[in-house]
Amino acid sequence: MKQELIQLFTEHFGYAPEVFSRAPGRLEILGNHTDYNQGFVLSAAVGQATQMVMAKRNGRICRIVNPPLDGEFTIDLDDLDNPKRGDWTNYLKGGLVELRRRKIEFPAFDLLFKSTVPLSAGMSSSAALEMAFCMALKKIAGIELPLPDWARVGQSVENVYLGLKTGLLDQFSSLYGKKDSLILCDFRSVEVLKNVPMPSGWKILVANTLVKHNLVESDYNLRRESCERAAAVIKQKYPEITALRDVDSAMLESCKEDLDIIDYRRAKHVVGEDERVWKADALLAEDNVEAFGKLLFESHESSRDFFENSCDELDALVELAHNIPGCAGARLSGGGFGGISIHLVKEEDAETYAARLAEAYRVKTGKTIETILCGIGDGAFSETL
Ligand code: GLA
Repeated sequence: MKQELIQLFTEHFGYAPEVFSRAPGRLEILGNHTDYNQGFVLSAAVGQATQMVMAKRNGRICRIVNPPLDGEFTIDLDDLDNPKRGDWTNYLKGGLVELRRRKIEFPAFDLLFKSTVPLSAGMSSSAALEMAFCMALKKIAGIELPLPDWARVGQSVENVYLGLKTGLLDQFSSLYGKKDSLILCDFRSVEVLKNVPMPSGWKILVANTLVKHNLVESDYNLRRESCERAAAVIKQKYPEITALRDVDSAMLESCKEDLDIIDYRRAKHVVGEDERVWKADALLAEDNVEAFGKLLFESHESSRDFFENSCDELDALVELAHNIPGCAGARLSGGGFGGISIHLVKEEDAETYAARLAEAYRVKTGKTIETILCGIGDGAFSETL
């Protein structure tokens, strides 16, 4: 891919690019909606990635090419503050606005990129684009920021520039992913606590409902508000807590009467997810894949019943996963409200499983899914060419 990008850039702009960058999509394996509650997530960077080549140019106009889209897109460095709704260049403009807010300087540029991360599917195509862009800018402008701050730049693009109150999971996983490992992330200290090797002989199969969620339109921000309200109420009884991350199931139950019933259910999901992440870590250390898989099923039930971020299509896929041989567990992954489910499948059965799942789903719902067998790869990087 790198050579192809260099060639396309050179043909289009008439000179060679200076830097290459690559940032992968991510999968949330366990730990749903825990990141903005300062909690824990087991995640992974996937093999699918956004790759780009870039060079500095004079003036204030940046030129962008994104095959197979036709033509050239432009960004005017003197007109960054007016995002047009639904315009994907917002992910780049927003990054520039965030750097400028941090008083970091950068030149105009020419950029060409391609991505293999499926769009709007729950594999964080937007974070992959943001992080590939950040890593390319870092190299080209010699910007020195600690890695978590680059993740924060991407998060701010979504939070400030696009109005979506997401956590740090997507950008962080894209930066810190580790080949063949899950990463256990702590979103209070914003670090990887450990790499947890993926059990050998098992793979993650993504089943994409093709129901396009658009988190901006969804209830994502409402869920976050519910969690924050719940934490504030629990704090009245337990002053030492600052976020749901500090709450365990017993504490939550002891506050049930004080909580709004909806907020209680949302918090129950998040507290349960944090607990499941640690149970998963212990089970994977013993190579107990069957029990780990059951946690994925439990996580999905909790999403469906308490957090209410599932949908009929995702529920149908996870239901089918219980009855098709070769699968240890399945759940919705990412924000929810559509998007993808992940299925922990035996490597030798993966293709048969994917075909059976797609067929059973078609018979059950009359609808089509896309299945993707995911490799787990390393996080983002950039290099001078
Ligand atoms: C989306 C957000 C993340 C995270 C997940 C749910 O992917 O971008 O920050 O909150 O949903 O875990």
